[in-house]
Amino acid sequence: MKTVAIVSQKGGVGKTTLALNLGFSLAKLGLRVVLVDADPQGGIGHSLKGSGESPGLAGYATHGTRVRDALLRTRIPEFNILPVGDVPPEYTQDFSSQFADGMVLATAMDDLSALFDVALIDTPAGFNGVTLGALRASDLALSPVQAEPIALRTLPQLLAVIGALREQGAHVELAGLVLSMLQQRNSDSLAVAEEVWSRLPPELVFETTIPRDPAVLAASSAGVPLALTHRLHLPPVALSFDQLAAEFAQRTGLLTGDADEPLSLFA
Ligand SMILES: Nc1ncnc2c1ncn2[C@@H]1O[C@H](COP(=O)(O)OP(=O)(O)O)[C@@H](O)[C@H]1O
Ligand SMILES: [Mg+2]
Repeated sequence: MKTVAIVSQKGGVGKTTLALNLGFSLAKLGLRVVLVDADPQGGIGHSLKGSGESPGLAGYATHGTRVRDALLRTRIPEFNILPVGDVPPEYTQDFSSQFADGMVLATAMDDLSALFDVALIDTPAGFNGVTLGALRASDLALSPVQAEPIALRTLPQLLAVIGALREQGAHVELAGLVLSMLQQRNSDSLAVAEEVWSRLPPELVFETTIPRDPAVLAASSAGVPLALTHRLHLPPVALSFDQLAAEFAQRTGLLTGDADEPLSLFA
């Protein structure tokens, strides 16, 4: 199993959206995916309908629940969710410290490694507490960056954090940046994208971009991946996540060139 921490210095850049929709799209490719919600505030658990049924990560950490018993199954069998569980505001600080060294998450990921091909960990903004723990317990880091002028500054910061963690023995590597909320009809937004592509090494920036689209907000409000918001008029941004999933799976070796061979129609 490959464990991927979805991180960013800033909040509201599209981490949770990326985690949920990339996870769903990877599962549609046939990969077994677990989405781990490690954000006690405003993460997936708050929007997804039906996620209150599980003790979640908090239950695992405090009551020793078996992590596989805290998994939520979804409409597609390849896609499971480990919600964050109940983290009352007064416990948020302790929750964060409890996860900071990465041990709890690493053990949880070990328990899940036989069941899944990929774990995506959605984290709170900033590089501290549970986010550091997630990076310590991960093979890869993936970071959405909003297509706005400060975007270029995010890479050195992220590389510095990853470098420091690696010096302490972590093995996390940067999978890359994903330009998110790109406004294709806005020249400032496009100029940032151009600059990111021209100034940063291509292996660190995904070619697929995620456009800014009101459909994303509607999907978050409904608490579902974009792919499940419409059956007939699927918003094009849903396809961007499919394309990103294919690029991600290929770049990270989750799927190889063989995956482009036709599948047999009959199982
Ligand atoms: N591509 C997008 N287009 C439009 N709105 C988006 C897009 N990505 C995210 N959003 C919205 O922006 C807000 C923040 O996104 P979210 O994924 O929760 O960010 P984070 O997890 O980094 O805080 C949410 O309301 C979400 O619906
Ligand atoms: Mg979030």
